[in-house]
Amino acid sequence: MEGKKEKLLEVSGLSTFFKTDDGTVRAVDGVSFSVNRGESLGIVGESGSGKSVTSLSIMRLTGGGIISGRVIYQGKDLLKLSEKKMQDIRGDKITMIFQDPMTSLDPVYTIGFQLRESIMRHKKLDKAAANELAEKMLVHVGISNAKARLKAYPHQLSGGMRQRVMIAMALVCEPELLIADEPTTALDVTIQAQILELIQKLKKESGMALLLITHDLGVIAEMCDRVMVMYCGQIVEVAPVKELFKIPFHEYTKALLRSIPYIDKDVKRLQAIPGSVPPATNFPEGCRFYERCDARQERCRQTLTMKELEHGHFTTCVAAQEKYMRGGGENSRDKRQ
Ligand SMILES: Nc1ncnc2c1ncn2[C@@H]1O[C@H](COP(=O)(O)OP(=O)(O)OP(=O)(O)O)[C@@H](O)[C@H]1O
Ligand SMILES: [Mg+2]
Repeated sequence: MEGKKEKLLEVSGLSTFFKTDDGTVRAVDGVSFSVNRGESLGIVGESGSGKSVTSLSIMRLTGGGIISGRVIYQGKDLLKLSEKKMQDIRGDKITMIFQDPMTSLDPVYTIGFQLRESIMRHKKLDKAAANELAEKMLVHVGISNAKARLKAYPHQLSGGMRQRVMIAMALVCEPELLIADEPTTALDVTIQAQILELIQKLKKESGMALLLITHDLGVIAEMCDRVMVMYCGQIVEVAPVKELFKIPFHEYTKALLRSIPYIDKDVKRLQAIPGSVPPATNFPEGCRFYERCDARQERCRQTLTMKELEHGHFTTCVAAQEKYMRGGGENSRDKRQ
């Protein structure tokens, strides 16, 4: 049975453009989705599809990006808050971990100092209490000898250890939403599994929601409840994770699934997705996967609409929508078994 779903974050019509010498880069282009309280939502898509810019736009950390649309959190549009109010939300209610911990750890301060500063800023604790909490948090993320580690500088720790510190920083103020952008890609496989397990464990304990960005569909399958597939700055499909793997609707999702190795399936050869991604300064009308798609039709060049074809399973793919409306084809319910 499905639990009651309360929306924690509601993103609508989010677009982020960058002005460059080559023209306007439409990095994120009219993206709408919501994250429910306590859920894990994954974002997948090829490199350059707009995954990072989506998350950075929510946090208003895109640098020069021109952001429009709405990001509603607790009834307020984050895009309209003052920078001061936004700072209170970042690092407190919504936190983010990045692929490279060195981008968010300051090399000139000790781990202890940085954790303590963050705690004192967001919680009303004095220095001693903040220190105590910092140490507790390091223990919590599996760092041994925590008291001594507090005195270490980021470069004195291993990559896996730094990633743990960053998770500690992100979680110490008990956020309602953790955004993790490729949190483990830079780490070796064993550490990767440990870090993901740690995020799962902490998530279970705290009930926070997770927005997990990765190009790794295996990680999505293991960690997420729902997944959105991005292509060229747009969402092309959203589905409960199991549904997406079982019956992908969009031709791009199908291609993406064909391009990854399955451990449990006897796939001899992986298929690279043929063709190339159109430039972000010059996207075509209609479906941006058109040129690479085997199922393309003239109608795909018109404005697309996102349609729910199954409960919670949406796509913009015209071919899938038509097949489904006819009640036949590979997407029909009765052929699922
Ligand atoms: N500061 C910027 N200035 C100009 N273009 C940018 C900027 N940041 C991102 N882009 C462009 O926006 C698009 C989306 O980039 P984004 O980093 O979100 O992709 P991604 O899906 O996270 O890719 P990856 O899997 O490689 O991390 C790309 O075309 C990228 O080149
Ligand atoms: Mg990225």
